[in-house]
Amino acid sequence: MFLETKHLTKQFGGLVAVNNVDFSIEKGKINAIIGPNGAGKSTFFNIISGLHPSSSGQVIFKGKDITKLPSNKIAKLGVARTFQTTHLFEQSTVLDNVIVGHRLRTKSNLLDAVLRTKRFWTEEQKCREKAIEVLDFVGLTHAAHKMADSITQEEKKRVAFALALATDPEVVFLDEPAAGINPDETEGLALLMEKMVQKGITVCLIEHKMQMIMKISDKIMVLNHGEKIAEGTPEEIMGNQTVIEAYLGGSVSA
Ligand SMILES: Nc1ncnc2c1ncn2[C@@H]1O[C@H](COP(=O)(O)OP(=O)(O)OP(=O)(O)O)[C@@H](O)[C@H]1O
Ligand SMILES: [Mg+2]
Repeated sequence: MFLETKHLTKQFGGLVAVNNVDFSIEKGKINAIIGPNGAGKSTFFNIISGLHPSSSGQVIFKGKDITKLPSNKIAKLGVARTFQTTHLFEQSTVLDNVIVGHRLRTKSNLLDAVLRTKRFWTEEQKCREKAIEVLDFVGLTHAAHKMADSITQEEKKRVAFALALATDPEVVFLDEPAAGINPDETEGLALLMEKMVQKGITVCLIEHKMQMIMKISDKIMVLNHGEKIAEGTPEEIMGNQTVIEAYLGGSVSA
């Protein structure tokens, strides 16, 4: 098994945001998580990536229990993520944003950085090369020297991908990568996710854009009120009565 959760649960006070979720992510595939607002999707990612401790249950990555590891250790093992909102250093260039993002996860300790040791400069150079490489991969070479506050929403989405890819991950968790961009741009990001899979990176994404999800996903899990209510291929999910009711219920009561 590549990456799996076992009985994963997260409580915030009296609210069970993620409830006893068993899920396995298939290696080399596009795995998707859908569900109404507040279903627990982002919380599920937050537990896997070590941002929040789980209340109970486990996360197993390549046979190793990573449930209690801090987020930087999880990242170093090859598990990367993006956030629903990407915060960039607005007054820095796109390239510098990716370099800094990468450096935060590399080995130089603070003393190396202060003393500007040889190791620091070697790593600095590696971070720079990596940033240039991932910006090229996500199609942002033209924007590398633009200020982060001057790029489009779609370019910001691609920077988020670049930040995740800079750590050479085996699996990337993408939280609503296509939110707030138009259909053509969404299509472009779908192609980028497929390109990641071709490069051997496993993808797991959260998305509300159903058309895109149904088109690119190999496997979908549906969360509702923290619980897994369905799992299957796009065809199976589209025809699932419980799923249809969960979505209709949401829109009728809204
Ligand atoms: N840090 C937190 N403290 C308290 N409650 C939280 C916290 N994070 C999330 N929640 C609650 O947990 C539930 C699940 O939230 P979550 O953000 O995981 O939903 P989601 O499925 O990602 O929703 P959306 O589609 O709107 O992004 C919500 O009721 C939310 O208010
Ligand atoms: Mg969310």
